[in-house]
Amino acid sequence: MQSIAPFLFIKVPSLQNKIIAAKNGAARFNFFLRGHSAIQTVVNNPFRIGVLGSGKGSNFVAIADAVAAGKIPAEIAVVLSDVESAGILAHARERTIPAQFIPPGNFRTKLDEAAERAFVAALQNANVDLIVLAGFMRVLKGDFLRAFEGRIVNIHPSLLPCFPGLQSWKQALDYGVKTAGCTVHFVDAGVDSGAIIGQQPVPVLDNDTPESLHQRIHAAEHELYPRCVAALARKEISVIGRRVIWKKL
Ligand code: GRF
Repeated sequence: MQSIAPFLFIKVPSLQNKIIAAKNGAARFNFFLRGHSAIQTVVNNPFRIGVLGSGKGSNFVAIADAVAAGKIPAEIAVVLSDVESAGILAHARERTIPAQFIPPGNFRTKLDEAAERAFVAALQNANVDLIVLAGFMRVLKGDFLRAFEGRIVNIHPSLLPCFPGLQSWKQALDYGVKTAGCTVHFVDAGVDSGAIIGQQPVPVLDNDTPESLHQRIHAAEHELYPRCVAALARKEISVIGRRVIWKKL
């Protein structure tokens, strides 16, 4: 058994109901996988989610609506953005979810060191169990990944490993694939390269434009992402090597 990321969710059924610590009287028993050995950790109850986004935040809205409807057993603890005017912050504030702009520094595609520290501190202060990237347009690096190893997920608008990077819907159309789609995956040090949690196909139509295909992929994301986050919050996900297994309770 080999793990691609050093720290991933794994559930051990024979021990799943064992309580190892009490936090607000409701601690959970959980397992993460580091290298080849399972280690124990405690997660909050309710499960706490931090969301990072740079754009309009439609995936955040889909997840927040699923939380509000009781479909995801979790609480959105904080929403952070590197863009002061991002729609995602406005959507969070409308829902009275703590929302904060953190200046990203001078780089275009990553956070500078001070910004990275500020993001990590905000997420640690919010005591999050899982970080959901919802259109966050910067690559996360070293210290950030180490602080939350195996607990960061992302959604990408292609059926990975096809078409990583930018404008995947256009890449798919230009290539001529008949089926496009979206992927939810764990985040590792590569670009769109972590273990795949879930995928949803979207047929490519003969008269598609990049815009029309992108729109249908976006709609598919709004179904797939809440489903994957719900499975993570319910600890229904195990990881063996690159394979993410969904367990039904
Ligand atoms: C989505 O298309 C997602 O695949 C990509 O960024 C976009 C975010 O859109 N990672 P939104 O801000 O959630 O509407």
